[in-house]
Amino acid sequence: MSPDDLLSLITSRRSSVLIASDQPVDTAVIDQMLTAAQFAPNHKRTWPARFAVISGESRLTLGNAIADAMAARGDDDAKVTKSRTKYMRSPIVIVVASARGESDTETEENKYAVAAGIQNMLLVAHSHGLASLWGSPAKGANDAITHVCGFDSTDHVMGLVYVGWPSRDVAQVERPAPRVQRLS
Ligand SMILES: Cc1cc2nc3c(=O)[nH]c(=O)nc-3n(C[C@H](O)[C@H](O)[C@H](O)COP(=O)(O)O)c2cc1C
Repeated sequence: MSPDDLLSLITSRRSSVLIASDQPVDTAVIDQMLTAAQFAPNHKRTWPARFAVISGESRLTLGNAIADAMAARGDDDAKVTKSRTKYMRSPIVIVVASARGESDTETEENKYAVAAGIQNMLLVAHSHGLASLWGSPAKGANDAITHVCGFDSTDHVMGLVYVGWPSRDVAQVERPAPRVQRLS
C-alpha cells in the first residue's frame, strides 16, 4: 500500500449505521479488526483494550441490560424502549473497554490507547467495504455493559462499534482544514 492509498483509505471512511442487519460478517474480518486495535500504541505496554464481540440474541441481552440501567436512572421511556433493540441494527457489535491503570495517569493514557485502537478497527472494517460506527455507551450503563461482556467492573466502556455490510452509501462531508501552528 502506498502512502496515498493509506491516506485515501483514511479520508474515505465515514461513520454509518446504514447496515444490512441480517448479512453476516466473516469472523476472520472481525479478528483482523481486533488485531489492528491491539497494535495501537499504548504507554508502558499496559495492553488496556478489552473486547466483546456481540452477535445473535446476545445483542438483545446487551440492549436490555443497557435499557434497564437507563430506566433505573429515570431516562425517557422512548429512549429506554429504543435501546432494547438498538443493537439488532448490525449483525455484529464490538464492545470496547479500557482497563483501569495503576494510577490516574495510566488510566487516562489507557483510554487514549484504546481510542487509537478503535480508529484502527474502523479503518480495517472500511478496507473490507464494511460500514461501521463508534457509538457511545449510555450514561450510567457502564456496570451493566461490563457485566454482560464479562469485563472487570473497573473497566471503562469506550464504545460500542456497529459493524456490517452497508445497506446504503453515505455521502462524504466537507472537513475543516487542520488547525495547526507551524513553528520553526
Ligand atoms: C468518542 C466517540 C463517540 C461517538 N458516539 C457516537 C454516538 O453515540 N452516536 C453516533 O451516532 N455517533 C457517534 N460517534 C461517531 C461520530 O458521530 C462521527 O464520527 C462523526 O459524526 C463524524 O463522522 P465520520 O466518522 O463519518 O467522520 C462517536 C464518535 C466518537 C469518536
